Amino acid sequence: MISRRITVTIKAFSLLWALVRPAVADDYRPAFHFCPAENWMNEPNGLIKINSTWHLFYQADPTANEWGNECWGHATSSDLLHWDHLPVAIPVEDGIQSFTGTSYYDSNNTSGLGTSANPPYLAFFTGYDPANNGTQDQRLASSTDLGKTWVKFPDNPIIGIAQEAPHDISGGLESRDPKVFFHVPSGKWVMVLGHGGQDKLTFWTSSDTKSWTWVSDLASSQIQGFPSDITGWEVPDMFQLPIEGTNETTWVLIFTPAQGSPPGGNGVVALTGSFDGKTFVADPVDPSTLWLDYGRDFDGALSWENVPESDGRRIIAAVMNSYGSSPPTTTWKGLLSFPRTLTLKQIGSKQYFLQQPVTELSKVDSSLASIQNQTITPDQTLLSSVHGTSLDIRVAFHIDSGATLSLAVRKGGSEQTVIRYSQSNSTLSVDRTASGDISYDPAAGGVHSAQLAQDNTELVHIWALVDTCSVEVFGGQGEAVISDLIFPSSTSDGLSLEVTGGTATLQSVEVYSVSL
Ligand code: FRU
Repeated sequence: MISRRITVTIKAFSLLWALVRPAVADDYRPAFHFCPAENWMNEPNGLIKINSTWHLFYQADPTANEWGNECWGHATSSDLLHWDHLPVAIPVEDGIQSFTGTSYYDSNNTSGLGTSANPPYLAFFTGYDPANNGTQDQRLASSTDLGKTWVKFPDNPIIGIAQEAPHDISGGLESRDPKVFFHVPSGKWVMVLGHGGQDKLTFWTSSDTKSWTWVSDLASSQIQGFPSDITGWEVPDMFQLPIEGTNETTWVLIFTPAQGSPPGGNGVVALTGSFDGKTFVADPVDPSTLWLDYGRDFDGALSWENVPESDGRRIIAAVMNSYGSSPPTTTWKGLLSFPRTLTLKQIGSKQYFLQQPVTELSKVDSSLASIQNQTITPDQTLLSSVHGTSLDIRVAFHIDSGATLSLAVRKGGSEQTVIRYSQSNSTLSVDRTASGDISYDPAAGGVHSAQLAQDNTELVHIWALVDTCSVEVFGGQGEAVISDLIFPSSTSDGLSLEVTGGTATLQSVEVYSVSL
């Protein structure tokens, strides 16, 4: 009775507070990026396309605007642009949280969790039990209604701590984030596990998705050229990709180390290699093509599974937020990077991973400005009459030797976020030093850079997605990408395009407003 009265009082107080609290203009809610309806998200989980529906699961705390009570939040979309928020898919149960993992279609019903007429979709996740020494074990859930609802396997865990212990320095306490897929040549299911603070992954196989055998380790020391200071490997993903311009396909392994990325902290690395169903043999690593993103805010990337061959894209997304609960959003925290395709291509002497925003974006673009074949000199400022806070900007230009092209976005008062291309050192950069609120975290400002060579016709391409609190910049064909959070005031909606140290010839500049 007393507790009911307290609950009623708290509810009344929250209602009153909602009415009187200072209005946080729009709370930086993105215009065309996914973020939770309310409260916390970290990385995406279990990305899968089922029929015409893109499913997005994500690490969520539905009860608070900070990390905790982790479970799989759920949203769906028919176009990767408009998302419907759905109830939590894999909740916390008996105090055991549902950490990161992946989904896969069990088309032959080898798990027996569906029927041959209605095969199940499977979700593999880590069970985290804070009350039991922080145990991390591996668990299974299934769906027989096309991913709408999920049922936990009654005999979870499918890999318990005793089985993990011999393969994990912490005795199994840091084994997590299962990536599971069916490996056709060996006829076996394969699981890849991250090992928390360690610099290794383990590989496991299964015939039925429920009982698993350890088969191999992939440690930093086994990968030629892999820098030893890149540690804390989490959130693995693994799949095959064609190498553009050849008839070849290669295995790709991506994961998120917690330390060692170019801007500091976590980031996403991608390796190629061979895989026989048990052992991944990595190709020698070139540290200059290792990172998928050179910004501070692209972590825990996973790819959508089960995308039909007629589409054929490998599409990845990650969480944008590397500062825990510090960013100044009060009703939500963490957003999903705009979905991007991942391809592999030889450019010059190196093989690059290329990323580009999915083309669905064009459906919600409306043109604000268009420039063709115009030379810009240091005394000129272009685009100063164009305004917008959610933009798709595509620039292709030739630039004089020694010159720098600067595209400023979210400009107003003393605020601006500057995207630069500096010819003399072939560097693409995002400068957040005056981007707005950077007081929330010591790592929130600064300049992030990536190497970007001019193409073989000496053209430079920059494709920038700008939203209420984010910028994602794709250089060249997508070989240099920089993704960062920014917190400008909502009135900082200006643009400018300038050149210093020489002239640039703008082959084309397209500015679109993005509105769902
Ligand atoms: C990565 C991570 C995962 C874990 C999840 C918990 O950010 O630490 O390894 O499963 O977050 O929310």
